[in-house]
Amino acid sequence: MALTSLHLNDFRNIRQAQLEFHPDWNLICGANGSGKTSLLEAIYLLAHGRSFRTGKPHKVIRHEQTQYTLFARVDWSMQQIALGMQRDRQGDWQVRLNGETVQRLADCASLLPVQLVQPESFRLFFGGPKERRQFFDLGLFHVEPSFYEIWLRFHKVLKQRNALLKSRQAYGAQYQYWDQQFVELAVRLQQLRQQYLQTLAAALQALTADVTALTGLQLELAPGWQVRSGDAAELWQQLQDSFSSDLKAGYSQLGPQKADLRLKVDGEYVDDLLSRGQLKVLLFALKVAQSNVIAQRGHKQPLLLIDDLASELDDQSKRQIFKFLAQLQSQVFITAIEPDQILPHLTQAAALFHVEHGQIKRTDNDGRRT
Ligand SMILES: Nc1ncnc2c1ncn2[C@@H]1O[C@H](COP(=O)(O)OP(=O)(O)OP(=O)(O)O)[C@@H](O)[C@H]1O
Ligand SMILES: [Mg+2]
Repeated sequence: MALTSLHLNDFRNIRQAQLEFHPDWNLICGANGSGKTSLLEAIYLLAHGRSFRTGKPHKVIRHEQTQYTLFARVDWSMQQIALGMQRDRQGDWQVRLNGETVQRLADCASLLPVQLVQPESFRLFFGGPKERRQFFDLGLFHVEPSFYEIWLRFHKVLKQRNALLKSRQAYGAQYQYWDQQFVELAVRLQQLRQQYLQTLAAALQALTADVTALTGLQLELAPGWQVRSGDAAELWQQLQDSFSSDLKAGYSQLGPQKADLRLKVDGEYVDDLLSRGQLKVLLFALKVAQSNVIAQRGHKQPLLLIDDLASELDDQSKRQIFKFLAQLQSQVFITAIEPDQILPHLTQAAALFHVEHGQIKRTDNDGRRT
């Protein structure tokens, strides 16, 4: 699976660009503020329907312009997919997939899996559970076809239950109605997550076996409530027990919306134990392991977007990360200020792009290593 070309118009500081990509490595270089992250943002936006930098969709439209347009071609096995996206300042948007209008942005996400590693993802990932949960669920979304529908249904139920709690509605038939669906869907989500955990842990183990700092690495799933038998009755009871506390809080404090992926080395949480450089190595190991699982089980190779890899890493950590990356079958887009920060570590062929004031030029001529 590869993004073969991308046309951009009026996206951030990029007025216009027509790019042809390499199926393996794409190295995007340029000075600070030249437009490197903006290019990754455009790819991510096509895949996820939202930016990783802003929650305000109009922010990515080039200043003083009315709309942006992105148009991509993706090769997937024998198929060629054309994906177009347009958005204006009024908030009207249009997504077209092979010429047909797409109604749900999630339809694009299932088509083009993309994983991102940026300096912020490191901080967020080892901070709160939200990032880890999203990372974990992204894998499930691509590997387990039933996951997304159950996830959506659960979140609809959660919204209803939280609305009752927020309005301080006393316990009664309405809660019973929603709680019944809540516990059924929660148990199914937990089962899928638990199965996926085994797969991901095995892939991670294979990858990190010879990394000294990561020997004894354990992956655990905290479900979001006390799971002993794992059945619906158990969660039902816990919801009952925490009802008055939920009512006081105004939202549901137990359930799969609170799940977390716990990472430990020899029983200690990694963020208490490992250095920042070691945590970065671990973050890459997780992303590569997950990409490999998605490739094997989901039959799609996620694109990997890496922004600013070089910052804060010594040569040994960089070597380790490139060793992981060499095991990827995915297409990689990686940014750097200078090509020399990356090129010496690459064993595969790469295309090189130079970005300057929003102008992007491919500077290798034939796609071979420059
Ligand atoms: N909507 C917009 N319209 C025009 N320019 C924008 C818009 N949003 C951001 N910019 C500008 O786009 C430029 C490129 O930003 P970007 O973050 O892509 O740079 P970068 O190459 O990743 O830099 P760095 O190396 O510092 O990370 C910045 O100068 C920024 O001010
Ligand atoms: Mg940047």
